[in-house]
Amino acid sequence: MEKIVSLCKRRGFIFPGSEIYGGLANSWDYGPLGVELKNNIRQLWWKKFVHERDDMVGIDAALIMNPKVWEASGHLAEFTDPLVECKKCHNRFREDQLETKKGKAVCPSCGGNDFSDSKKFNLLFKTFLGPTENISSTVYLRGEIAQAMFVDFKNVLGTTRKTLPFGIASQGKVFRNEITPGNFIFRTREFDLIEFEYFVKEDEWGKWFDYWLGEIKLWLLMLGVNEKHLNFHEIPDGERAHYAKRTIDIEYEYPFGIKELYGLAYRTDFDLKRHFKEAPYKDPDPPAGGGESFYPHVIEPTFGLDRSVLVVLLEAYHEEKERVILKLPPKLAPYKTAVFPLLANKPELVKLARKIYDDLRKDFTVAFDDRGNIGKRYYSQDEIGTPFCVTVDFDSLEKNDVTVRDRDTMKQERIKISELFDFLSKKVR
Ligand code: GAP
Repeated sequence: MEKIVSLCKRRGFIFPGSEIYGGLANSWDYGPLGVELKNNIRQLWWKKFVHERDDMVGIDAALIMNPKVWEASGHLAEFTDPLVECKKCHNRFREDQLETKKGKAVCPSCGGNDFSDSKKFNLLFKTFLGPTENISSTVYLRGEIAQAMFVDFKNVLGTTRKTLPFGIASQGKVFRNEITPGNFIFRTREFDLIEFEYFVKEDEWGKWFDYWLGEIKLWLLMLGVNEKHLNFHEIPDGERAHYAKRTIDIEYEYPFGIKELYGLAYRTDFDLKRHFKEAPYKDPDPPAGGGESFYPHVIEPTFGLDRSVLVVLLEAYHEEKERVILKLPPKLAPYKTAVFPLLANKPELVKLARKIYDDLRKDFTVAFDDRGNIGKRYYSQDEIGTPFCVTVDFDSLEKNDVTVRDRDTMKQERIKISELFDFLSKKVR
């Protein structure tokens, strides 16, 4: 983990938030490379789960919703973690995350064993809407993105004429006042989620639950995740979220232990029933004797985007002798290629390299580097996961070709400049 955190800071993937003011605990900013990686994951997800499917549409909802949403959804009452305070050092912890010794919880700060009674701590962040700060203007930053997909259900239905089974997808920031954030971007108080609510007939929920579990596994393979690092944990009765009848946590073997990466939940018709007094869906093509309105049931696969970034980095990080390589799937790499003139003091080489750089940049993210020697430039690109490096040398001026070097095999081949676009398209798209 330390190596990943240090690489992220050194190369501009992820910085500590508000650093020049001493930081803010567990807040992180994505830098120039990090934002590319994160957006690539987000866009690949949207392509796979929304654009490539006929049964999925997207929305982009407001972060602050009418507070009645959170009352109806049960979040005001149930979205809590058990909080205890150490009586010796007065630090506060999540009771269910404390380590125990001889059956007694141990304070991670002072080693004490004496804690206050556990109380429910609500994770929703409160704020005020408009210029008055009182109870009637209290609103909440959204604690999950799911609720808008339920609240907007009828609007989506009316404007898309989708029929069951179909899904509504969304992505964006959520806020949770976590008691014990930590482990870099694993647990923070604001984070990005991507997920969808998939609406089905009640008697078909089992089939769709299995189907989406399979799709999550395929998605993880696309991210380059080794199946050996995954664990599928069936959450037992009594431990599931208040809305779920079945949940599988998709867990990952992080350096700090096996913990949740994604979730798959059967939310039944809980949320639609809470938000709509009248059943919101009528089958347009009912079987004989049908035709009644009803409440669809919901399967919800949820994908933490920041945890996706973390896992992609952990899987991609390799050390080979002197070099550090991020073996990112090319689709996810911040730069698809880097262009170098062999020598920085030869204007004719720099001019041609610049031209290739400018041309490729219309279709790909491309880096340009003319510092130091070629070996150092290769290593520098390996460390940030650039799959290909293009070098312009004296032969290029004569023969209109360049050397293309592969990050993983370190093999080099000559490619005509006119064929570079096709070559890269095949390899990185
Ligand atoms: N709509 C369902 C839902 O929000 P969740 O299990 O509470 O479910 C979804 O959260 C995902 O969000 C998790 O599987 C995880 O990937 C991510 N996540 C949860 N809490 C997080 C936190 N504090 N920091 C970063 N990611 C978090």
